[in-house]
Parts: sequence; C-alpha cells; structure tokens
Amino acid sequence: MLFAILTVVTLAGLAYLTTHRRYEALAAAPAREGQAPPPKDGYFAWLRRWIRDAVKPDGPRRLWKWFMDWTSRYYPGWMKWVFAVMILCFLYLAASGFFFGVFIPRGMFGFPLVLHVSLGGVFAFCLAFAVFWRARDYAFDKKENEADASERFACPICKNPSKMLVAKILFWTNALAGLVIILSALFSMLPIFPAATQSPLLELHRYAALVSALAMIVFSDVRLFPAKTK
Ligand code: HEM
Repeated sequence: MLFAILTVVTLAGLAYLTTHRRYEALAAAPAREGQAPPPKDGYFAWLRRWIRDAVKPDGPRRLWKWFMDWTSRYYPGWMKWVFAVMILCFLYLAASGFFFGVFIPRGMFGFPLVLHVSLGGVFAFCLAFAVFWRARDYAFDKKENEADASERFACPICKNPSKMLVAKILFWTNALAGLVIILSALFSMLPIFPAATQSPLLELHRYAALVSALAMIVFSDVRLFPAKTK
C-alpha cells in the first residue's frame, strides 16, 4: 500500500514541479523571432496548450526528428537502435510495473509479467551499453563547455547548479538504480536465495524502479527535451 501511495504522490508531484519550472523558464525568457511568444496566460493554460501540441497529428514526425537529431550526436549508426530499444523497453517496464504495483494488489502476473521479464533482460543489455558508451560524457571530472555551464537548473535549495551537473548526477543515479533493479530481479529468480528473501527483493526492485522513473523525468526535462529559452 505504501509503495502505491508513494508512487502516485512522487510521480504526480515531480511531474507538476518539472512542468511548472519549465513554464516559469519560458515565461521569463525574452521573446525570440520565429519562436512562440513567452506564455503569459498562466501555468494551467500553458500546460493544456503543451499537452495539446504533444498529441497533435505531427507529434510522431517531431518525435522522429528529435530522435534522429539526438542519436546522430550521441548514438551514431546502428547504436541509435540500441537507444530506441532501451527507451521503449523502459517505458513498457515502468508502465507495467507501476500499473500493477499501484492498481493490482495481487501483483504482476500472466502475459504482462512474461513480457516484463523478457523486455527486462533486453533493457539490462541496452542500459549496460548506454552506460559504457556515454560514461565519458557524464564523468564529473569532464569540464563543461561554456554553453553547458551557462544553462542553470532553477533550484534555489541547491543554488541553481548547472543543468549539465544535474544531468551527470541523474545519469549515474539512473545507472545505479538500473543495476539495483536488474540484480534484485535476477536474485529473486535464482533458486539460491530462500523464499523469505522474495518479498524484500521485490520491495527493493519496486523502490529502485521508482527512483529510476523519477530520475528519468528530470533527466528528460533537463537533457533530452530542454526548454528553448535562448
Ligand atoms: C532487468 C530488468 C527487469 C526485470 C528482469 C524485472 C522483473 C520483474 C519481476 C519478475 C517482477 C514481479 C515480481 C513479483 O511480482 O513477484 C517485477 C515487478 C516490478 N517491476 Fe520489474 N523488472 C525489470 C525492470 C524493471 C524496470 C526498469 C522497472 C521500472 C522502471 C520495473 C518496475 C517494476 C515494478 C514497479 C514492479 C512491481 C509490480 C508489482 O507490484 O506487482 N522493473 N519486475
């Protein structure tokens, strides 16, 4: 029950905080030629417009353009398919995991569970590849270029760190949470552990999954789909 409440409260809370921070950044940005004027009609009016734009018929075409642009920079050639499979697996794993974790008291079962475990295996390989391939770019000793250093993450509590530093922290948080997710699932399936460890392993799996999903929300906002304010 606690996991279900925490999942709903933290995912909804973070989605609100992240979109509200994006709205404030866009509203404070100077008007630029050829771009939408800064929103002035309030957060909820802007959110309705933003969601409406995302589901427009040309949405898939814009997403494909983003995918080709992002992978041409960071996952060239065949690697772009590793990135695509990783994201699609993660979306299914999170959707199936949190749906059953929040709404179905008996837990995941049947075909959704079989697909969860199978795509879980695929996800494990893709994540390992992505962490290995991108580790250098998210290393804390890597000097930020001027553009990255100038982009600040609006968080008064942590003194508005650079968005790149936040992205680095989230990248390694996700890598670690991913490792815990994979090992907890693996150990729960290996016959070497007594039955009594099943539910603590599932709890560890669930909470690592929640940490991973929360980190991905902010990482997407900061790094994958940054607000165009300059
Ligand atoms: C290597 C990858 C993965 C494997 C092998 C795997 C395997 C499993 C298994 C076997 C269960 C069911 C446990 C049970 O009910 O006894 C489960 C549950 C769950 N998984 Fe995964 N999983 C993986 C990745 C993920 C990821 C990436 C997420 C989310 C980001 C996730 C979220 C969840 C959640 C929330 C549950 C709990 C569902 C419930 O309460 O019924 N899993 N996973």
